[in-house]
Amino acid sequence: MAKNLPPTYDKIAKHEVFPETTSDEKARYNFLASLNKHLAHVSQGNKIAYENRVKPKFEKEKGRTFQSKNEVDDAMSDDPHYQIWSAMRRSTMEMRQQAGRSLTYRQGLKLKEKVEKLNAQKPNSLILNDDVKVPPYLLAVDNHLMPGSYHTELFEGDVSNAANYDGGLFVTTAGLLGKYSDGGGKAMADWMTTTYPDFQPKRILDIGCGMGHNVIPIARRYPDAEIIAIDTGRPMLKYGHARMVALGIENVTFMQAEASNLPFEAESFDWIQTTMFLHETGGKSIYNIMKEVYRTLKKDGITMHIEQPQYTDDMSFYEQWIRDWDAYNNSEPYWSKMHDIDPKDLMEDCGFDRNEYMQIGAKAINDLDDGTQKADEPEDHGRSPIWNVFGAWKR
Ligand SMILES: C[S@@+](CC[C@H](N)C(=O)[O-])C[C@H]1O[C@@H](n2cnc3c(N)ncnc32)[C@H](O)[C@@H]1O
Repeated sequence: MAKNLPPTYDKIAKHEVFPETTSDEKARYNFLASLNKHLAHVSQGNKIAYENRVKPKFEKEKGRTFQSKNEVDDAMSDDPHYQIWSAMRRSTMEMRQQAGRSLTYRQGLKLKEKVEKLNAQKPNSLILNDDVKVPPYLLAVDNHLMPGSYHTELFEGDVSNAANYDGGLFVTTAGLLGKYSDGGGKAMADWMTTTYPDFQPKRILDIGCGMGHNVIPIARRYPDAEIIAIDTGRPMLKYGHARMVALGIENVTFMQAEASNLPFEAESFDWIQTTMFLHETGGKSIYNIMKEVYRTLKKDGITMHIEQPQYTDDMSFYEQWIRDWDAYNNSEPYWSKMHDIDPKDLMEDCGFDRNEYMQIGAKAINDLDDGTQKADEPEDHGRSPIWNVFGAWKR
């Protein structure tokens, strides 16, 4: 096998509702995954351009160095290497969405039928509620260039966007999340069982579950726990529930609910989890959501939140700026503000004891033989399968 190529699409695991792909569609996904991986290498040239061209020019002109990531942004946006890398990266994101759209729309009605058939086998664990509204901050954007975002149904029962999300995660991350793209959930389940072997949660809440790929490993690890996975996107919930049934999992209920107004009594859960969710919440909602987490968590319960690294005072302006690329170029408008927050302050403001705050690093558990990120591979900022996880016990 050629060095440095990502795993190929035929190695990822399929389930009954996984979208079917022709050989041309697979080839397109393989090309895009490889291009994404290649661009992480090309991105190293951004740092060289910054150090050798952009920073010296700025310092010469201003008589001082950069004082903010915004100044880095202004200066770098004129650099030809950055311009070509950024245009290429944006294009891979657009192409990944369109490639997934064309193949899922082609089989849209078939996907709907498969999903409805599986959901009919277990009707009590899919709870939809027309009164739940998609928050305005979600309606305002096509998250990561996904037309129609998480909520749009082009026809009654359409689950194409959810299926597109499932199949396309491989492309965006170049296979770094494993056969079922669930390396984050697996890492979380592993961490919990090894760090707190005596902790036996009876009720677990996953907020912003999407199509549920990261909650499934937790459900597998705690088969006796009752797990509720909530989201406002109906297509995600329908597809995620069908996917769960197809995978033979019994203990997750998929429920349409809004995170800043949870339909649960106080002290309902032993563990509340979010995975790559908080950076997509806008305005003040992150505070309202964390207050709801505090309210619905039991005493001696734990909450954990997987995200890309927060920006800290000891992170260079260059690194903050390159990590912000998605905010400005990949329709992730809340990304920047969320990563600027001090999560310790956020949690304390929402009721948690500052002394109970914890932060860990988690690396995706990847069951694809050639999928794991090698130590000498450059980081693809924003897509790295190595996360910052913060949280706290409620005492
Ligand atoms: C980036 S996806 C994360 C999905 C999944 N947790 C994962 O591991 O990839 C964010 C999800 O959060 C949902 N979401 C955003 N705001 C929400 C809110 N206020 N209440 C419930 N779900 C929300 C979106 O619909 C979307 O499915």
